Amino acid sequence: MIKVAVLGACGRMGSEVCKTVLTNEDLTLVGACDIVNVGTKIGDVVITDDYKKMVSEGCPDVVVDFSKPFSCEKSEYFLEKGIRPVIGTTGQTPEELETLKGLCDKYKTSAMVIPNFTIGAVLMMKLSQEVAKYMPNCEIIELHHNQKIDSPSGTAVRTAKMIKDVYDKENIEVIKAKGNPDDPARGYHEVGDIHIHSVRLPGYVAHQEVIFGGPGQTLTIRHDSIDRSSYMPGVVMCIRASMERCDFIYGLDKLL
Ligand SMILES: NC(=O)c1ccc[n+]([C@@H]2O[C@H](COP(=O)([O-])OP(=O)(O)OC[C@H]3O[C@@H](n4cnc5c(N)ncnc54)[C@H](O)[C@@H]3O)[C@@H](O)[C@H]2O)c1
Repeated sequence: MIKVAVLGACGRMGSEVCKTVLTNEDLTLVGACDIVNVGTKIGDVVITDDYKKMVSEGCPDVVVDFSKPFSCEKSEYFLEKGIRPVIGTTGQTPEELETLKGLCDKYKTSAMVIPNFTIGAVLMMKLSQEVAKYMPNCEIIELHHNQKIDSPSGTAVRTAKMIKDVYDKENIEVIKAKGNPDDPARGYHEVGDIHIHSVRLPGYVAHQEVIFGGPGQTLTIRHDSIDRSSYMPGVVMCIRASMERCDFIYGLDKLL
């Protein structure tokens, strides 16, 4: 039985994780932390706004973090206590990722930062890597609900990084589009000069298209998360895997 606590337990993702933990036989919910609904219960667990209390009272093996914004300090505290963070919140800086990796090495334990838990989205990224070898010119359009704070999405940036890895490995030079790449309408292009366009509208959940263009043809790979339940098989996979690992993992693709 894996003891799981959830940070950001009352949010859109956190509450779905709590439900999932309560319905999986090998998982038990031992803690829930949020700054809202404090004192109310999820299952048998009372929601607290004090993550240290959540740890001392519930003794979790794993903390799933979907609290917003990301706080590296909390993950550092969990790792120091021998608890494995599985982090879904996006928006970590490169320095924070390095810190988490360093703590995994120091304490010989695991931490996971998973920008996207949907298995379909990870397959979209892997397929994009394959296509990029043959049709390297591409742009990304990501579409999310309008409550999402960060732009571009962690998934879009991760996709661009994975495609850039292909450019580097295969020595591919991409011919840039004419025109000023810094024109605001051309979007974010910090990674591999791949342009990312962010749409934020009510009605969307999480969607992404990777559009490849070649002479006389285009190829689009599209993934749609139409319900937050799409993330849960990946979350459960990570909780279970984190108990077996002693390293820092960035991205669900490392587990597939
Ligand atoms: N990795 C993925 O697959 C994935 C999928 C969807 C969303 N996300 C990311 O997950 C994060 C959460 O998304 P959401 O849609 O559930 O957001 P949300 O706003 O619905 O939930 C965030 C929750 O965190 C709580 N919170 C804020 N400060 C806190 C604190 N100090 N301690 C504890 N809880 C605190 C809020 O009260 C809220 O309930 C975002 O960064 C989002 O981009 C990741």
